[in-house]
Order: sequence, then structure tokens, then C-alpha cells
Amino acid sequence: MVQKPSAAVTTLTSNAETALREVAKEAAHCRRCPLYKLGTQTVFGAGPADASVMIVGEQPGDVEDRQGLPFVGPAGRMLDHALESAGLRRDCLYVTNAVKHFKHVVTGKRRLHQKPNAYEIDRCKWWLDQELDIIDPELAVAMGATAARSLIGKPIKIGTARGNVLHLPSGRPVLVTIHPSALLRLRDSESRAVEFARFVADLRRVGEIVPSVRT
Ligand code: URA
Repeated sequence: MVQKPSAAVTTLTSNAETALREVAKEAAHCRRCPLYKLGTQTVFGAGPADASVMIVGEQPGDVEDRQGLPFVGPAGRMLDHALESAGLRRDCLYVTNAVKHFKHVVTGKRRLHQKPNAYEIDRCKWWLDQELDIIDPELAVAMGATAARSLIGKPIKIGTARGNVLHLPSGRPVLVTIHPSALLRLRDSESRAVEFARFVADLRRVGEIVPSVRT
């Protein structure tokens, strides 16, 4: 028999959706740090408001900045490929970034990514914390140093922490892994294949911890 969600569950979910939409609307006018002057728009998170897993990246890239959605450019394609290989459904995940504006420098016709600094990450945590509060995922995934710094509140070494689950003071588990852009920077195909397999192995842990997001 197909179980229908109870009225209480339905209401909770739609409350979360409404709350998320409201926060996204506020974030669209964010002036909490100077990065709003650089980006085309605020790129807020995307995915179901009742997601059990939240994936956190660094900041939108060039394509994301234009389209207004997280992980839809080259790093997004790498992430999609890794999620598929790890047997995870992207449509079940809430995908967001630690920093919601594209920090870059313009050189000729190109807009070159620049790493957000600690101040920018900490100012933008205001939005990530609200996403976490509303969605209340069973597991957060920190992809790379910026996401880890934002979620954990202090810098950590990704090389040492990757593949491990840390616990926030709230008790929320955070799985640490690399950022998919790190794979795009690897020129040699053998290293790329090895590192891709390690990334997929980290992501497989997501499905072990939260089986409902498996394909
Ligand atoms: N890199 C990120 O960290 N996030 C995106 O949305 C795209 C690229």
C-alpha cells in the first residue's frame, strides 16, 4: 500500500519551502560583504526543502553567476558525474555554497575565480546557517576548504579530514571531502582517474549514512 504523507508532514514541508523562499528573497539583496558588487546575482541553494542531505560547495562560478543556480557549470558536471557514480540522486539533495556571490577578477574577456577570504566566508555563513536551520538535513557534506570552514567554523586540512564525518556542536554530522574543481585542475588523466575514484568513494559514504538518497 502506498503511504500518503500525514497532514502534519505536508504542512511542515510546505512551511520549510516557504521559509526557504523568503530567505532566498532576502539574500537576493544581501550587502553583508562587498562581494555583491562583483557578482551578477546572489546564487542561493537549490533542491528540496525537506532534503536529508545538504551538499555545500565554495561559491558560484562564472556559469552559476549568470544562471543563478549552484553547480551548473563545469564543476557541476563533475559533481553530477561523481554523484551518479556513487549511486546518489541529485534531485534528492539540497545543493548550495558557503559564499553566495561569484568572487572574481576580470582579465580581458575572462572572469577568473578568486578564493573567498575568511571575512567573506564568515559573513555569508548567515545564509548557510538559515538554510541548515530550515532544511535540517541528517547530513551535511563539506566539499573543500571553504565549505568546511563555513560549516565547522574554523579552518581544517582537507587532505587529513576527507572521508571523515565530523560532528558540529549541534550534533549535526558533516562529511568532509574535496571540491570537484580540484579534479578539473588535474591535467594528467591517470591522477584525475585516481582522484575521481577517491571522490566517489567519499560520496558513497553519503548513501551509506542516508540510504534514502541512493538511486
Ligand atoms: N564551484 C562551487 O563551489 N560552487 C558552484 O556552484 C560552482 C562551482
